[in-house]
Amino acid sequence: MKVALGVTGCIAAYKAAELLRQLQQRHLEVQVVMTRHAQEFIAPLTFAALSGQKVITEMFDRSGTASSNVESAIEHIAVAQSIDLLLVAPATADILGKFAHGVADDFLSTLYLATKAPVVIAPAMNCEMWDHPAVRENVATLQARGVRVVEPEEGYLACGMVGQGRLAANDKILEAVCETLGLVDDFVGETILITAGPTQEDIDPVRYITNRSSGKMGYALAEEALRRGAQVVLVSGPTALKPPSGVEFVPVRTAAEMGAAVKKHFKNSTIVIKAAAVADIRPAHPSASKIKKEKLPAAIALEPTEDILASLGRSKDGKFLVGFAAETGLTPEGTRQKLKSKNLDLLVANDLNEVGAGFDVDTNHVQLFRLDGSVRDVPLMAKARVAGKILDEINHLRKR
Ligand SMILES: Cc1cc2nc3c(=O)[nH]c(=O)nc-3n(C[C@H](O)[C@H](O)[C@H](O)COP(=O)(O)O)c2cc1C
Repeated sequence: MKVALGVTGCIAAYKAAELLRQLQQRHLEVQVVMTRHAQEFIAPLTFAALSGQKVITEMFDRSGTASSNVESAIEHIAVAQSIDLLLVAPATADILGKFAHGVADDFLSTLYLATKAPVVIAPAMNCEMWDHPAVRENVATLQARGVRVVEPEEGYLACGMVGQGRLAANDKILEAVCETLGLVDDFVGETILITAGPTQEDIDPVRYITNRSSGKMGYALAEEALRRGAQVVLVSGPTALKPPSGVEFVPVRTAAEMGAAVKKHFKNSTIVIKAAAVADIRPAHPSASKIKKEKLPAAIALEPTEDILASLGRSKDGKFLVGFAAETGLTPEGTRQKLKSKNLDLLVANDLNEVGAGFDVDTNHVQLFRLDGSVRDVPLMAKARVAGKILDEINHLRKR
């Protein structure tokens, strides 16, 4: 999701730099727009460096080339259409007046008129200014129009006076943004270790044994966990997918590499979800050089790989452990047995025989096996939604 962060000419403008970081931590893409007066208080470079994006400071391009003029002429419309929310923090008395009266004499005030996205503003000013009938009326007009106002706080102001006018705490502003965007934050403070994808077990440097896992379920879980405020470590076997931005991504290839990466990140995580399809077997004697076609053996000796899930279950240390069972012909007794023997807290089972479930499809139908023996059926739906149901279940079980 994308947020435009408008910064206006207040002493508190520096606080917007930290706010930008906090928005990014919630995995929001941020486009900063500064008024000309805001640049008297803080340099655009600070926001450009933090956001990794050009900061918009002007309505009109001053470089004078024909192409840049065309670009700048349509930029306010392009930004207006691409954002999910316009946040102005801090907002001056001046910008409140412009927004309330439809004045469009710079990029930010024009953006306000041009966007259909919801608007959140966090004013900051001297307490006499905040109390002035003109400001009060402008705030009331904006609120009546559906703009969400995060009221300034009481306290010692930069001008030396004490009263209401200090920019609200960043956490309050962030809360208003998340609520407006419908972002749930029920996994804030959690570090979730997720594994995804297949592993590849070498026969020689060219050939390997693998399975049909696409990684889609694990990546959907990572995306959903991020959206709900968790820190996510994604340990993934080779897939065609792009890691969600904001995850700590750990690419691996073999079961042994996956085991080592999982053990390394296990101690710092609070929840572990093992959605990867780790190979159960690997060639017992992989060749260091490519085996010539004529010398390929009729049979390859195999040996079991480490059962990573069972190893984690033995050294659980208070973590919430979720396993996946993807099989053909699952039985409830067999699944319950797996849940117990591996010391898991939840087991997500899907039957690979079912159309639309399991490997390499965008949908899944799963059953959630709980420790108390009960089972919750999650009917066929997009893997993104299944991910949400699994996280809901984890939350529910951990609160009991
Ligand atoms: C040192 C200083 C601090 C200011 N602090 C504020 C402030 O906190 N709130 C405010 O509404 N205006 C403040 N102003 C006045 C605004 O900068 C002024 O109204 C300006 O026109 C706002 O332009 P903008 O809304 O386009 O950024 C301050 C001015 C100065 C010189």
